[in-house]
Amino acid sequence: MALLPIVNLPDPILRRKAKPITKFDKDLQTLIDNMIDTMRDAPGVGLAAPQINVSQQLAVIEYAEDEDDEEENEDTPAKPKKLYVIINPEIVKVSEEKVMGIEGCLSIPGLQGEVERYEAIQVKALNRHGSPVKLKVDGWMARIFQHEIDHLNGVLFTDLATRVWKPSADEADDVDLD
Ligand code: NI
Repeated sequence: MALLPIVNLPDPILRRKAKPITKFDKDLQTLIDNMIDTMRDAPGVGLAAPQINVSQQLAVIEYAEDEDDEEENEDTPAKPKKLYVIINPEIVKVSEEKVMGIEGCLSIPGLQGEVERYEAIQVKALNRHGSPVKLKVDGWMARIFQHEIDHLNGVLFTDLATRVWKPSADEADDVDLD
């Protein structure tokens, strides 16, 4: 296991459009595993390669779907987390419905913002072995996907937010970072 340093604003790599991946070799597998470790250690719900100083079209996402839908209850077992590795992703379909939500970013410490996102999206991507996959995601998972795919295009949540603020410690604890 290796943790990779996370790059923060104003590093210009965060503003660059990342390059498509064409080689699915052992080095890529190691990079992916290290990104998963780094995301979990942060902790975060997503991490895009430019955030660890690699300008390539790769992101990892891990989140328990419906995590926020139910009140916490000792009798309800925790939902399993779902891990996605997406390479060269492309959003191919979006819902009519859009939803507001509060986002933060591992590369922009100490800021939160209110961002409108599509409620559901379909994504075409390659998996870690280079095989094409089509993914349908909605709710908070769809929000994380949109945040990560934006990273691969040099776009940050602060570009899209209707307002941005510095959260109090309590507020900051309530927001997942990616
Ligand atoms: Ni981010």
